[in-house]
Amino acid sequence: MSKPRRRVVHDAPLLEGSPEMDGIRALIADVADTDAAVLIRGETGVGKDLVARAIHAASLRDQGPFIKVNCAAIPAGLLESELLGHERGAFTGAHQRKQGQFEQAHHGTIFLDEVGDLPLALQAKLLHVLQDFRFSRVGGHEVIKLETRVIAATNVDLERATALGAFRADLYYRLNVVEVRIPPLRERKAVIPTLVSQFLSRFNEQYGRRRELAPETMARLTAYHWPGNVRELENVLRRMVLLPDAEQAFAPHAMRPADDPPRPAPVVTQGLREIGYQGALAAEREALVHVLERVQWNRAEAARVLKVSYKTLLSKISQLELTPGKS
Ligand SMILES: Nc1ncnc2c1ncn2[C@@H]1O[C@H](COP(=O)(O)OP(=O)(O)OP(=O)(O)O)[C@@H](O)[C@H]1O
Ligand SMILES: [Mg+2]
Repeated sequence: MSKPRRRVVHDAPLLEGSPEMDGIRALIADVADTDAAVLIRGETGVGKDLVARAIHAASLRDQGPFIKVNCAAIPAGLLESELLGHERGAFTGAHQRKQGQFEQAHHGTIFLDEVGDLPLALQAKLLHVLQDFRFSRVGGHEVIKLETRVIAATNVDLERATALGAFRADLYYRLNVVEVRIPPLRERKAVIPTLVSQFLSRFNEQYGRRRELAPETMARLTAYHWPGNVRELENVLRRMVLLPDAEQAFAPHAMRPADDPPRPAPVVTQGLREIGYQGALAAEREALVHVLERVQWNRAEAARVLKVSYKTLLSKISQLELTPGKS
């Protein structure tokens, strides 16, 4: 870290346009000249990637590498050598020394995407690296000293995962020094017209079209609740530019009401005891599914995490009729 100047956030023009995003831009500027770990939270498609890149661009390491690691996409068996690298001969097939992603991120930023999906065993390894920023490649002894900014992102409810034992609390605190929460698009609808015109001109240019939207289309785009957030809006606009019928076809009411109507009060047909029992079952099912997926259906590990005997776990699995890949 050697550059003395402080950067402002002008490399991320896409973040402008709403008070929520202005708050996030201010936060990015505040942490820009520090190495503080940042945890970015938000539903799928809200712009976590974009914010991570904006933090890097605003930081003192902006000339350094930005290395993105998708923690959910790398097979668990390979993740350690992906992150830490390996020495020649460390394992079968390791024909030469390989730099890991941490090493590649030296003097830059490492972006741990989908960090909530990291298996427990690797959470321990990651914590180890983040504790003193020293590590060795798999199969090696040389200690590598690392200077890098860590940014993590997730759409998993990490507090709940921590309470369930599926995410290490110590790692959570290590990653969550500064937290950036990006609200879902439905909570910042004022930004929709700006995004729409940005996407419209971008796709018109990209596909050589001159599409304009009917005025009532904007009202419909604003009314929709956008479960896939900005990514979904982007895709809808792309279709509208490409396909003549897409604009007509976009009917938010056919997808789901813009704002959920108030739910009718449930009709009570069960006794209190039965309601309690059903509620407990539902909570158990949720916890079990969560933990089993996290440990990739390793039942012995799941039993340990949930603090029940192996036998109890098996009988719960069969009582709740849980099967791998189905929840
Ligand atoms: N404020 C914005 N302005 C313009 N484009 C945006 C904005 N926010 C998000 N996008 C676009 O929406 C898409 C999704 O954003 P991004 O990949 O950053 O979301 P994400 O939160 O990382 O999603 P996921 O959880 O699925 O990884 C991208 O194509 C991105 O460029
Ligand atoms: Mg992302």
